[in-house]
Amino acid sequence: MTQESSPARSSPARYYLTTPIYYVNARPHLGHAYSTIVCDAIARRKRALGIDTWFLTGTDEHGQKIERSAQAAGCTPQEFATKISAEFRGLWDQLGLTYDDFIRTTEDRHKRGVQHLFATLRDKGFIYKGYYTGQYCVSDEAYVDGSPGTFCPDCGRLTETVSEENYFFKLSAFERKLLEFYEANPSFMGPESTRREVISFVRSGLKDLSVSRTSFSWGIPVPGDEKHVVYVWLDALANYITALGYGSDDPIDQERFKKFWPADMHLIGKEISRFHCVYWPAFLMAAGIEPPRSVKANGWLLFDQGKMSKSRGNIVRAETVQAVLGADALRYFLLREIPFGQDGSFSFDALVQRYNGDLANGYGNLVSRVVNMVHKYFGGVVPEAGAEASQERGLRGLAEGLVGPFGQAFDELDFSEALKLMWVVVAAIDGYLTANAPWKKPADRSDEDHAALQARVLATAAEAIRIITALVYPILPDAAAKVWLQLGQGDIGAAARGAFLTHLAWGRLKPGTQLGEPAPLFPRAEKDAVQRMQNLEDENNRTVIEAASEQGEAGGSDPTAPASALSIEPSPAAASPSVVSVQPGSTGTAPKRPGEHGDHNLTQATAAPVDSAKQVESIPVAPIGSELASGRLSTTPAAAPEGTPLHPAETPPPSQLAAQQPSASPQVTIDDFVKVDLRVAQILVAERVPKADKLLRLEVDLGYEKRQILAGIAQYYEPEKLVGRKIVIVANLAPRKMRGLESNGMLLAASLPDGAPVLAGFLEEVPLGARLK
Ligand code: MSP
Repeated sequence: MTQESSPARSSPARYYLTTPIYYVNARPHLGHAYSTIVCDAIARRKRALGIDTWFLTGTDEHGQKIERSAQAAGCTPQEFATKISAEFRGLWDQLGLTYDDFIRTTEDRHKRGVQHLFATLRDKGFIYKGYYTGQYCVSDEAYVDGSPGTFCPDCGRLTETVSEENYFFKLSAFERKLLEFYEANPSFMGPESTRREVISFVRSGLKDLSVSRTSFSWGIPVPGDEKHVVYVWLDALANYITALGYGSDDPIDQERFKKFWPADMHLIGKEISRFHCVYWPAFLMAAGIEPPRSVKANGWLLFDQGKMSKSRGNIVRAETVQAVLGADALRYFLLREIPFGQDGSFSFDALVQRYNGDLANGYGNLVSRVVNMVHKYFGGVVPEAGAEASQERGLRGLAEGLVGPFGQAFDELDFSEALKLMWVVVAAIDGYLTANAPWKKPADRSDEDHAALQARVLATAAEAIRIITALVYPILPDAAAKVWLQLGQGDIGAAARGAFLTHLAWGRLKPGTQLGEPAPLFPRAEKDAVQRMQNLEDENNRTVIEAASEQGEAGGSDPTAPASALSIEPSPAAASPSVVSVQPGSTGTAPKRPGEHGDHNLTQATAAPVDSAKQVESIPVAPIGSELASGRLSTTPAAAPEGTPLHPAETPPPSQLAAQQPSASPQVTIDDFVKVDLRVAQILVAERVPKADKLLRLEVDLGYEKRQILAGIAQYYEPEKLVGRKIVIVANLAPRKMRGLESNGMLLAASLPDGAPVLAGFLEEVPLGARLK
């Protein structure tokens, strides 16, 4: 194989850009669509500049998180991954995104490349065998420093204790090399906040990193030692080279790799910068492959103040916006409203306001006025503009003068600024039309003079529109295609393939050109647009909830069912604020979510090997039978109130309890009831809390995330006997702190006459995370 040393690119006119590959544990939402849309806009611009462009996206399908999600959904990880991956790809197609390749990490081409990379790193002496004991965040698939009970500093979820034989990558050997690399390539990372965080992370010292796992099997086997699977981040990062053909003997693949590697830009979310800016270049340096040219981090899309995410139940889907306002409206909003690199709030109100203000009343109205007037006054044929006066010179100067600054801002990923500059020109063309009013003939103007003015004004305005339309095409491809036809310019795709952004000179809209038929671009959004989008989201959430409960009753899922009706997310989306009023962030999922407030920091969390003498037992997870208790159901308080009578193992038989008179409770409406998010969870860890006789510390698995809960049941239940048991918890209770530990939720239990709790459970098999309703 001769791919390791990639020679300098043969032609500068090629560009390779990538999105992160998306985990298939969640259906695509606007947060995912954001990076893919940004990349699509960039790819379209590069192609329209005549640059040979390769735009890669795909799905990240291995690892413990996916394995567990599949288990909870009752299908194999491969079936699970195939279904969700198809949803991502289907959505990108529906949104008209122009990726050149879509990689799935379960494809053979990828497995082959990853195994080749692993073997290369090992052959070069950068991988050795060791033993890891420590914390692991399954949600982020990341090693975390700390003791059992530590929360992930990135996502805030409870980490799990891992104790297993692993292969280690000598990351510590790359500390200096990475710092030198960053120094020599100041534009490698962006924005500046990411750059600073990454550098300080590396300066704080790098530990060797575990790059294989042995406690589960859903991954790519380590070549030559198949009880190990490759660590999912090494597997995932390698997609950027395996998709091009790295590891293949086929000359066509080798040629593609040679042509497009190193990548010009990996566009990523800010929370995964450590993986892309530290681990990835180190792996590549170790393998003798040139690192990517740049890694640029976007901020988060927030909805109701929280990061839009499945587990917070505050997602909005791109399909909803597309159905009501069109894909271009979504693209415009994301690029105009959110300065790239910063977090940005999404709301239907803001979206509709921008849509009406900038697109319907702005650009769309401008185009329709001009095209209609050319039809009305000139039979749809572009008139001869005649001699330029100062106003025309001014407009021409503005349009021509936009090309450079717009391109520069765009290429610096400052899309918002680029669009701001363009809308100054939209307003100027509008103002020019209003000032000259070609639709109105003053009494003292001759017919000839008026016809000349109409010709000059409309030809000039149409030409200015042609220039801005070409520039905005990468951001508003559908609208630009329509305008191009209306301006009699034909297929904009063909124009883009002909590198039309390289010849945007004024005067290419020739007199005599027959314009196309006027057609609406952005019909004004009526008052009900916000409600319609909200209804679509509610409807979708209802479908997911119903599917989830049906699946829970059936005890399994049909992997062949249509994705929209399959509860492969054990319904975190059911907690959508539109269905139950749960404040995102108050669902008790985590004590701290650093990134939520935009203060995302890199944390030292590499997995260093340990001395085998210090190994700890790994946590056994074995499902056990569950029982139902009669009697009144209650939630067990996080800490039993003082004075609660405690009678371990003295539970009266259920027959004696059935006759208990229920005490009068205030009535609640169904709306109140649905606010309580009751979920099925499994106890992974149960232990006594030192110096607190009544408290047990539990780690529970909801299928979509793990939690720590403190429960006042220590005098009724032996902790060891609880491990593996499926229980019911109140999942959206605000977190509480006790004895310095955070408790996120409550257990549901029947309360016996003497106050003893009997934990609620199920007779049938139920998936983790299933909602009780
Ligand atoms: N599989 C890894 C990436 C591996 S790349 C070699 C992963 N997947 S992810 O599905 O969790 O996230 C993929 C991308 O979506 C990340 O860049 C993440 O930042 C982005 N987003 C997910 N939710 C988001 C928002 N609410 N807002 C903006 N982007 C967000 O991480």
